[in-house]
Amino acid sequence: MQDTPQTLNDKAKESWRALQQHAADTANDHILDYFHRDPARVQSYSLSAAGLTLDYSKNRANSATLEKLVKLAEDAGMRKSIDAMFAGEPINHTEGRAVLHTALRSSSDTPVLVDGQDIKPEIRSALAQMEQFVSKVHRGEWLGYSGKPINDVVSIGIGGSYLGPRVAVEALRPYWQENIRCHFVSNVDGSDIAYTLENLNPETTLFIVQSKSFTTQETLANSMTAREWYLREGGSETGLSKHFVAVSSNVQRARDFGIDAENVFPMWDWVGGRYSLWSAIGLPIALQVGMKAFRELLAGAEAMDQHFKTAPLEQNMPVLMGMLGIWYHNFLGADSYVILPYDQTLENLPAHLQQVDMESNGKGVNRSGVGVDYATGPIIWGGAGTNGQHAYHQLLHQGTRWTPADFILPLKSHKPAGRHHAMLASNCFAQSQALMCGKSLEKARQELLDAGMSSERAGELAPHKVIPGNRPSNTLVMDEINPHTLGALIALYEQKVFVQGVIWNLNSFDQWGVELGKQLSDSILPMLLDTGASTDALDPSSAALVEKFRKANGSGS
Ligand code: F6P
Repeated sequence: MQDTPQTLNDKAKESWRALQQHAADTANDHILDYFHRDPARVQSYSLSAAGLTLDYSKNRANSATLEKLVKLAEDAGMRKSIDAMFAGEPINHTEGRAVLHTALRSSSDTPVLVDGQDIKPEIRSALAQMEQFVSKVHRGEWLGYSGKPINDVVSIGIGGSYLGPRVAVEALRPYWQENIRCHFVSNVDGSDIAYTLENLNPETTLFIVQSKSFTTQETLANSMTAREWYLREGGSETGLSKHFVAVSSNVQRARDFGIDAENVFPMWDWVGGRYSLWSAIGLPIALQVGMKAFRELLAGAEAMDQHFKTAPLEQNMPVLMGMLGIWYHNFLGADSYVILPYDQTLENLPAHLQQVDMESNGKGVNRSGVGVDYATGPIIWGGAGTNGQHAYHQLLHQGTRWTPADFILPLKSHKPAGRHHAMLASNCFAQSQALMCGKSLEKARQELLDAGMSSERAGELAPHKVIPGNRPSNTLVMDEINPHTLGALIALYEQKVFVQGVIWNLNSFDQWGVELGKQLSDSILPMLLDTGASTDALDPSSAALVEKFRKANGSGS
């Protein structure tokens, strides 16, 4: 058995030890045995909240496992931590900030105080500002420099100022407004903006510069390039204010860039970037699907928050999902987690959840700055089904590493073409079934014999067809993907990540790890632009790479 972590509180240490013992005791259990022993398992291991239903019966967990996991959550102070977040306590202590993305989607009038000030009025006024702007654009009253209405919206931002809005815009395609098309530019790779601008008309294009800090290299470079393009293609200086708006907490910098103060939508330091799609960073969503649908997205997230806040821990969806993840990562040795939406419009959901999870819990010291002696944030990956079945599912089924999986399926399709949706669902259900049930050597051999193969050849081939099984998964279903269920789904994962951060005693809301790369890139850039600049400060490998780049591009690239 592994050592018990020393960096947990005493009560949590005890429940951790109990789980270590339980993991040893149940090491040979098979999920299928749990079904045999408990005929009502599907019912008792299912839970509905905010329009989502979670079937967690295909997990390597029995009632004792769940009890012990919930005990660990209690002992780690889960309830207190949840209350502290919703109350606006400065739980992002390394930056001295509250964490209040939940306030952005709260429809209640109950004040939420930050430094003694109720933030609800500011939130309402930002929503009103968005509403007014969106309605002007939709009614064709927001006119470009030549008097034409806006048709194309280019959102320029990266990380949290990009992934969430993009996922929501894509997933809500059935709700798109006519005559508006949102595009997203994030990468500093010039081809991103170049290809996006290729077919756009400056007269009818609006750029939203999305940057909480207004200091992010990629976003500033892309915004400058967009501005140059606009002017080069005929846009007027005086018309700039009609074509560039910003979402930022740094109004001064946005103004320095040339954006009118009245066209800067607010952001606040109590909203983390990866949790910001609920703020004005969601402006592209609102422009694409309308303010009514945007408010419905907030309402879905709020419904999940309410559930998270009030449901007992043992019937709490984010808590159960978070604690099952803890079980796999800290007690059964899994190191990654795969998210598999069976819905093409959710293709980029895993990328957003990857940022939410890995930027939040990819940390090596606890809240006191002490190095932790347990595994923290898992590697999050995934993609849309059924595509993944023809790529990485092979490893999920037969690889030496096993990976807990979340299957996500809307029960109804917005595009029910013939049998397509039934085919999609049958694949989704079959994958979780195959992961759990597997195929024995005997069964594999028998199938080959039944197909007419010689006994010798069947014996040779059968081991290659064995599927170990006993691989766990959750299945999350909703009636359909709509603004409400999408809001609930994203909020569910945000809160799941929070739950795990509490157990690991991390600050899930800072991201200091991204800083070093930014600093180093700032010092390397001048060396790439000026072939005479010394590379002595670099390590030999990096210096040689700089040299290669210089040779390929010459100076002034
Ligand atoms: O580099 C990481 C990060 O700070 C993210 O956390 C954030 O969402 C992203 O960069 C963009 O930051 P900003 O909105 O300030 O441009």
